[in-house]
Amino acid sequence: MKLPFFLARKFVAAETLEEALPVVRGIKAAGLNTTFDKLGEYVSDRSVATGAKEEYITLIRTLDEATGQIDQNISIKLSMLGQKIDESFCVDNLHEVLTEAKKTGTFVRLDMEGTDITESTLSIFEKVYPDYKDNVGVVLQAYLKRTKEDIDRMCELQARVRLCKGAYSEPASLAWQDMPTIRDRFLEYMETLITKGRYPGIATHDDILINATKEFVAANDISKDRFEFQMLYGLRSDTQKQISDEGYGMRVYVPYGDQWFPYYSRRLRERKENVWFILSTMFKR
Ligand code: FDA
Repeated sequence: MKLPFFLARKFVAAETLEEALPVVRGIKAAGLNTTFDKLGEYVSDRSVATGAKEEYITLIRTLDEATGQIDQNISIKLSMLGQKIDESFCVDNLHEVLTEAKKTGTFVRLDMEGTDITESTLSIFEKVYPDYKDNVGVVLQAYLKRTKEDIDRMCELQARVRLCKGAYSEPASLAWQDMPTIRDRFLEYMETLITKGRYPGIATHDDILINATKEFVAANDISKDRFEFQMLYGLRSDTQKQISDEGYGMRVYVPYGDQWFPYYSRRLRERKENVWFILSTMFKR
């Protein structure tokens, strides 16, 4: 059964690219930066993965044609490009996407998914990175116990990293489960990435982490243009604008597409207020 889209509208810009474009233009016109995400994940059929590759290329071309009205910045998932089917097939698909990105000056962020593909994602990233250093970046999740080494690994490469807490359910053997520890790890990695990395994205809606980042850069006389904050579409829009007005970079992650259910359910799991919002939407309709 397919749920009606109005349930997801708070977190997902639209079901089609055509409908999502004006939403992104509006965010850009308000002075914020964006990254566009075509929703979908964990593809198990080669033809679907090939279709996803073609859609990513179309998206890159569409943003290129929108000249200046929309950031040429997208976020993609390797599991959409066939990572779980055959890694070398996925790498071939990724090369095609990144070739188009390089040609058009687009930045492509590889989102990080579950721990079943963490190492595979990082090793695919390392494989393609030398050819597309300014066009590809990766994501690291502060809740994973392995992440300290991965932070050093990515700083060594001078790769662009988005740091987030981590959104997937993972066992205690692999991921910290309590918020104070996750926040401590996040802060440690934020400091390393800002001082030793290349233009990291600090992706969180958490005031404790946002304020600590602002305090860290002020105390160390680090320029605001050495990093950017990132938030999700539909969450804390006023705060997004306020942070941008304070002179920090703020990028909004804008998802679209009809495969919205897994993304939508992660947002509901994260915060009980999101569930209340959805329930009130249902009753207001
Ligand atoms: P969290 O939900 O932990 O909330 C902490 C505190 O922040 C709250 O107690 C409250 O004080 C404040 N807060 C949060 N939301 C609020 C709201 N709507 N209004 C008011 N206060 C609020 N994950 C992943 O595994 N792989 C990925 O590739 C990505 N990519 C990604 C991109 C971007 C741009 C973002 C922002 C996030 C991701 N994530 C992700 C998701 C990330 O891992 C994480 O699950 C969510 O950001 C939730 O964690 P937060 O730190 O944002 O706040």
